[in-house]
Amino acid sequence: MTNQPRTMPSTPDRPTLTLTQPDDWHLHLRSGEVLRHVLPYSTRHFGRAIVMPNLQPPVVTCADAAAYRAEINAALPAGSRFQPLMTLYMTEQTEPAEVQRGFESGEISAVKLYPAGATTNSAAGVTNLQNIYPVLATMQAIGMPLLVHGEVVDSEVDIFDREAVFIEKKLQPVRAHFPELNIVFEHITTRDGVEYVQSCDQYTAATITPHHLVINRNALLVGGIKPHYYCLPVAKRETHRLALVAAATSGDKRFFLGTDSAPHLDGAKESACGCAGIFNVANTLSIVTEVFEWAGALDQLEGFLALNGAAFYGLAPNPNKITLQRHKAPLALPEKLVLPAGEITPFDPQLDLHWQVV
Ligand code: DOR
Ligand code: ZN
Repeated sequence: MTNQPRTMPSTPDRPTLTLTQPDDWHLHLRSGEVLRHVLPYSTRHFGRAIVMPNLQPPVVTCADAAAYRAEINAALPAGSRFQPLMTLYMTEQTEPAEVQRGFESGEISAVKLYPAGATTNSAAGVTNLQNIYPVLATMQAIGMPLLVHGEVVDSEVDIFDREAVFIEKKLQPVRAHFPELNIVFEHITTRDGVEYVQSCDQYTAATITPHHLVINRNALLVGGIKPHYYCLPVAKRETHRLALVAAATSGDKRFFLGTDSAPHLDGAKESACGCAGIFNVANTLSIVTEVFEWAGALDQLEGFLALNGAAFYGLAPNPNKITLQRHKAPLALPEKLVLPAGEITPFDPQLDLHWQVV
């Protein structure tokens, strides 16, 4: 938060907050050793998560998703009731019947659309959207959500403009063709994204990440290149961050939390060609609560964290509650994760945090 004090005003009259347990509507859990190390950070706070399918190779069939779900369930901490909600990775070969079977059996919650080349493990994604229109027609008919990574990949489009151009060139034509398709515009980063969603009806929603609520592009580029602030879509200028905070805290049910927590080993990020992705679930709830407090909108926090997304996906809110407590002294940052293959650095929001999950 450039130009903002690191310490936010304290509210001693509201030392604790009890909320419906949150969900994470956009999460990268990876597989193998990384999955086993990062999963407990999600399960200790969240009831459910929409699990991204961009493994290598990607999760393209119901059988792939079933195998991935089994791997996640086998890695759950003892006693955890965390529910992974599985997604399929859209390719130009995706079969409408496969998608329909997965959705109607309850195994698959949504399909993720990556424009080919837009981000990590997106090479198998879609180049020509018209090639997936038969799948989209089926999804619209059965009410299955399409989750969209909303960036164009054209080399002549500036990386900071790729979301805005995507809205005009890609999203609006799809929306015009499929007016009742449930679309989640994932991890929006711009005022353009906010205004687009606001201009739509109830069939369009958007996830917002904790990192895009608190950093702008200065975090990445001022004082040296900071690879742990690099993600896609890349953080934008401050006016866009402010638009995201206003949308998240507004009470508009079309905006909800998707952490886009995307762990990479430090060696892959601290590199001449560093990977995109920020591992944030260790302190997501502290960050988002701080932002809502600072915006004077703690009364809208439960909607953003726990109610709006469930309603969009047609699910009941979690039955459990969580409590956050406000500490006077700033919290310590979470420790680095130490894996046999290397370390993973949790997101440092560059501001003091006071709210801790009890
Ligand atoms: O920063 C990102 N990391 N954005 C994405 O879209 C993918 C993700 C990843 O999988 O690492
Ligand atoms: Zn993602």
